[in-house]
Formats: sequence, C-alpha cells, structure tokens
Amino acid sequence: MDILGIETSCDETAAAVVERGRRVRSNVIGSQIPLHRRFGGVVPELASRAHVELLNGVIDRAVREAGVGWSGPRPHRQRLIAGIAVTTGPGLIGSLLIGTLTAQVLAFAKGVPVVGVNHLEGHLFAGLLEDPSLTPPFVGLIVSGGHTDLVVVHEVGRYEVLGRTRDDAAGEAFDKVAKLLRLGFPGGPAVDRAARRGNPAAIPFPRPWLPGSWDFSFSGLKTAVVNFLKERESFPQKLVSDVCASFQAAVVEVLVGKTMEAARTFGLKRIVVGGGVAANSALRTAFQTAARRHKYRVVLPRPILCTDNAAMIASVGYFLLKGGRPTPLNGKFASLRVDATLPMTSWRV
Ligand code: KG4
Ligand code: ZN
Repeated sequence: MDILGIETSCDETAAAVVERGRRVRSNVIGSQIPLHRRFGGVVPELASRAHVELLNGVIDRAVREAGVGWSGPRPHRQRLIAGIAVTTGPGLIGSLLIGTLTAQVLAFAKGVPVVGVNHLEGHLFAGLLEDPSLTPPFVGLIVSGGHTDLVVVHEVGRYEVLGRTRDDAAGEAFDKVAKLLRLGFPGGPAVDRAARRGNPAAIPFPRPWLPGSWDFSFSGLKTAVVNFLKERESFPQKLVSDVCASFQAAVVEVLVGKTMEAARTFGLKRIVVGGGVAANSALRTAFQTAARRHKYRVVLPRPILCTDNAAMIASVGYFLLKGGRPTPLNGKFASLRVDATLPMTSWRV
C-alpha cells in the first residue's frame, strides 16, 4: 500500500511516497530557505505563497520518482497510490491550509482517501523509516523549531506525553543563539558547524534540569548566553566557536540525560529521536555514546528525515488509513480541519 504524503506546515514544500509505512520510495523537498534568509527567519505570508507556487511540481516529482500511478490503466503492473496523508498541524496556518486544500482536491479528483496527520507524530515515525524493524513501545524525543516533547509511544496511535518545554523549544534556542552571534539563518546548522571548532567546556552555561519534572526549559540558558555576550565588545571567531560549543553541550546534556532517564524509569530499551535538532552532530554522538553504555537501542533518522519532510507524514498516514481512525473521506470531498497549535495526541484509545 503506497501512500502519498504532503507536508507544508512551515518553510519546506514537501511530497513523498512511502510503501507500507516503512519504505521510502520517493522524498522530494522544495526548500524555501533562500527566500527567508534575508529576513533572518520564516515569513509566514511568503511561505504560503511559495507553497502555492511549488507544491504541484513537488507532488508530480514525488509520484514520478516513486514510479507509482493513480487509478486507471496500469502500464507494466504499475503500483497505485492508495491514499493521501497531509499535515494538518501544528504549524503556520496559511501554510497548513495550502497543503490541506491541495490534498483534499487531489484526493477528490483521483478518488482516493485523504487523512490528516499530526506533524509531531510524523517526526517520531521518521524512526520507522530509518529502522523498519522498529516496533513500539519506545521512548520518543521530538526536538524541532517549535517543540521539545518527551513521549512514551505505547503503540502506533497511543502516546503519553511525559514532558514538554515550558518556554523556548530546543531548535528555537539554537536559532536565537545563532542570531545573537550573527551566524545567519537557519541557525541550528550554523551553530552545529561553528561548535565543531570550539571547546564545549570553555563556558560553564547552566544545565536546566528541572528536577522532578520531565519538562524542559531553554530560555534561561539563552539568557545566560545573552548576558555572557553583553560583556564582550567584539566576537572573534574563537569566542563564537566556544560559545556555540558550550551552549550546544548544555542543550545536549539535558536532552540526552532526561531521555535516558525516562527510558530507565519506564523500563524501555528503545529510543527514537526526531525533529530538526535531531540532525545536530553533537546530539547524535551523545545519544550513540549513551546508548552503547546502557545497551539501549537509539534510532536517529538520517538528517534528511529529521528536518521537515513528507515521508514521515506518509508513514503515519499509512497506519491511520490501514486500521486506525475510521475515515469517512473515502472518495468524497473531505473537509480536514487545520490546527496551528495541535498538540501530540493519541488517535487509538
Ligand atoms: O523539524 P524542523 O525541520 O521544523 C519544525 O518542525 O520546527 O526543525 C527545525 C529546527 C530549526 O530550529 C533548526 O535550526 C533546527 O531544527 N536544526 C538544527 C540542526 N538542523 C536543524 N539544530 C541544531 N543542529 C542542527 N544540525
Ligand atoms: Zn518539524
């Protein structure tokens, strides 16, 4: 069963085809980074317009590259798209609407079902694409530009959110520190690169542990960086590298520490890390080291599956369409509801 995924929740215009929820047949991402760069962040109105311009072409390419077709005569027993999955939240409302309307019209025209997918759930399912043998239960850590959620995945569709950030998301903190250091947009990868030349022990930034809670908090750490820089007149390269490495070390220590602690507490030996920050090289190394030490299995999707993509959305869509939430949308014109602040929610009770 091949599902077409569509993702337009932020600044990536993406479409992908995934087979049985676990095998990526195509994964096309039309990045808008050059468009937003000169503004130092994503401009919602520009993002929506760019989605309108890019999406049809991106979908066509994803279908072509996967070698799948729509209903009708099948040359050489070509595989057919069985349904469409589209992100309905969380994200920028205008951007979400472009993807959702496109998906609904396409599903209506082609006579296939369409299902709405939670973007956060998608970030966890990137783990299934990376390691098709992975099965729940596992501990999931979602670290993106808007979210930092620590979750127990009991089964597909059944989630227990243990904790989330009380202020800035991990990716947001990376982006803000990059801005302070004038490293450009997007900030996370720039901090990652600069940190490679720096000393992670150079500056003792605070570790926001929030004892007794599974929540996170990164705004205090960000303020510590602001205060440290306030006392400096210029930012020589060595200082920039040391700030990046030391800030990154603090974020990584807390993320890895709390996730490993959750795995221990809940007796789970499998961990999945997803979202853009999961592409961070120091975070990946720290998780791999901790996993080896504790004999846990940590699934870190390859970077292209960590940042926003539609393959992860198609993966969730497969499970929803296959046997999860009943969908009354089959072949009819559907009306999916978008939700800019959709939290991580279970759909299987
Ligand atoms: O998941 P994602 O692509 O979009 C959202 O759902 O938000 O995550 C984007 C975030 C941005 O804050 C970006 O700076 C961060 O992920 N990011 C990174 C790295 N690559 C992307 N942060 C740290 N290191 C990276 N290598
Ligand atoms: Zn994302």
